[in-house]
Amino acid sequence: MALYDDFAWFYNRYWNEEFHGLAFPILERIWLPRLPHKARVLDVCCGTGYLAGLLTARGMKVTGIDASEAMIAHARENVPAAEFQVAGAADFQVLGRFHGAVCTFDSLNHLLEVEELEACFRRVAKALKPGAPFAFDILLEAAYKTNWADAFSIVRDDHVLALSGSGFDRRTHLAHCRITMFRLIEGEWKRSDVDVRERCYTTPEIDTALEKAGFVDTTFYDARDLGMRGQLGQGRTFVVTTKK
Ligand SMILES: C[S@@+](CC[C@H](N)C(=O)[O-])C[C@H]1O[C@@H](n2cnc3c(N)ncnc32)[C@H](O)[C@@H]1O
Repeated sequence: MALYDDFAWFYNRYWNEEFHGLAFPILERIWLPRLPHKARVLDVCCGTGYLAGLLTARGMKVTGIDASEAMIAHARENVPAAEFQVAGAADFQVLGRFHGAVCTFDSLNHLLEVEELEACFRRVAKALKPGAPFAFDILLEAAYKTNWADAFSIVRDDHVLALSGSGFDRRTHLAHCRITMFRLIEGEWKRSDVDVRERCYTTPEIDTALEKAGFVDTTFYDARDLGMRGQLGQGRTFVVTTKK
């Protein structure tokens, strides 16, 4: 079972709008102008397809990949016009070449080894046409040292979620948070627990991994400089790079 399978229902309901309400205007500024009309776009770690839906509404032909079957099931329901595949970010295979690629909401921090990050970048590069732009956001150390995964809860009549971070290890560069969820299904409360681990990379590590994979002209933007205020913008970097 993939990490997000148990979390998918809550993610689909609560985790999309706030982030993409802030992130999409940024993509409109730094990435979308570089795509042709009706572009073919790859969404890596596409989650429940919220971004795929926004791009499809703009006339793009989206293919999304994600390791979680449950996240992909929501994506298929949310955006029937897009194509989705259950696959890992470091070993997916897609047919044909894309005009652009995207990966949002610190999904790349879920890749816990630099070799996995490099493998993902190589896969994305392979899927892109020469000159095609790839945009993603990724959290740097500042995000994990401050309020990433601050305690948070949702309590409703038929569902409850409690999230708590258990800190950041400066030696391993790993951050950890636990999500405990309950849902009332056919009169019975069902419990599930998910442990989310994320790794923070430095900008030189990201830059080197991109270069090795065949990307050039990489630009890093602090999310706050692009208007992403509050906790979501803290320590977040948007990166735009180009397939050689
Ligand atoms: C924070 S969510 C972001 C989802 C989506 N990009 C968005 O913007 O809402 C992280 C996603 O990455 C996916 N993911 C984590 N590790 C992965 C891996 N190794 N390969 C593919 N997908 C992965 C999870 O299943 C989850 O859907």
